[in-house]
Amino acid sequence: MPPSKRIPQVKGDFLLGNLGQMSANPFHALCDWQRDHGGLVSFRLASRQFYLFGHPRLFEQTLIKQSDVFVKIHNSGKPTGLALVLGQGLVTSQGDLWQRQRRLMQPVFQRSNITMLLPQIANAGSSMLNRWRKLGEGAEVNLSEEMMQLTLEGITQTMFSTSVLDKIEQISPSLDTLLRYAAKTVVNPLTLPLYVPTLANLKFKKALGTIDDVIYGIINQRRTASSAHNDLLDMLLKVSDDNSGEKMTDRQIRDEVITIFGAGHETTANLLSWTLYLLARHPDVLDKLRQELDGLLQGKIPDAEDLQQLVYTRAVLNESMRFRPPAGILLRKVSKDTEIDGYFLKGVELRYSAFLIFIIILTFGLSRSSSTLNGF
Ligand code: HEM
Repeated sequence: MPPSKRIPQVKGDFLLGNLGQMSANPFHALCDWQRDHGGLVSFRLASRQFYLFGHPRLFEQTLIKQSDVFVKIHNSGKPTGLALVLGQGLVTSQGDLWQRQRRLMQPVFQRSNITMLLPQIANAGSSMLNRWRKLGEGAEVNLSEEMMQLTLEGITQTMFSTSVLDKIEQISPSLDTLLRYAAKTVVNPLTLPLYVPTLANLKFKKALGTIDDVIYGIINQRRTASSAHNDLLDMLLKVSDDNSGEKMTDRQIRDEVITIFGAGHETTANLLSWTLYLLARHPDVLDKLRQELDGLLQGKIPDAEDLQQLVYTRAVLNESMRFRPPAGILLRKVSKDTEIDGYFLKGVELRYSAFLIFIIILTFGLSRSSSTLNGF
């Protein structure tokens, strides 16, 4: 075997490595390191060694070609990061459990089921627009908060056939507390375990209790309800294993509900916020988008068939995700020694940033004019 290439290492503190830079501003730190060192760079957060991947070739190798070697970081016996919040839902489970849950839940995400949920999504949009109209001409809104509220309403309507807007003041800050804490446990290995009663740990537990109360409350109501609802929760309660006929327990349903809840609303809100921001900066693209929407829909709410025909709108959303990936970071760990692109990797944690991929694609992609939306 030829000698492996040397992986560049970010300079840092003797004891804490790069923890100071990372805690000060994780996103800037990752972007700076990728810009200064290229597609693969290594850094250390106290005792943990990380590799930062920022090239599509490395993504393909790890997420597709060697997905059995580069596995999710979550360990059900000792949850950290998102698993503290999501439990063992699809995003954080792996191996047999993930396969079983994925098989069970596949029918839930069939196109026909999603199509059935479109009216609820459209209703969430309409009520937001009605609210905005009442604010009057020239009123200002915080778009990022509005998009978060919109997608929260969309996901709860499709999940539970109910609005949570009356509980939004409890739910939004609790979710924010949970996700921030989860991110901190990954970035900072010095975070004390949850059983230590620090202020941050107590705040996390309180927020988790709030969210669990809401979700278990809805599951309990539904288990005893006499009439059917056409929503994601009903679908999850109905699915059963083809072989054993087994259904999901309340705990599994809770984990999948909170996973879909978390995975579905913040990502979509980020996509919408960034798209609106980019459109405001590119009025020519906004004009073209309006032309397509006005021409096809003429003021009516789109149905599933219309969505298929909104080619330019889809391109705008795809391009927005390429520029500003709504889920910017994926984590994997190396389960066994391996070689990738001439580099030797030993069992350490890997950190991917789609943001960094974005920088590389931008450099090459636009110069080849391959963008669907020239100049967007
Ligand atoms: C713009 C919107 C979205 C983006 C950018 C996005 C991005 C992602 C990414 C990158 C992953 C892979 C995570 C990993 O492997 O570590 C993922 C997984 C997942 N997402 Fe999304 N997502 C979006 C919307 C949604 C919505 C609306 C839902 C549900 C209603 C959803 C549910 C899920 C689930 C259940 C998984 C886990 C799949 C599995 O491992 O089997 N996502 N998403």
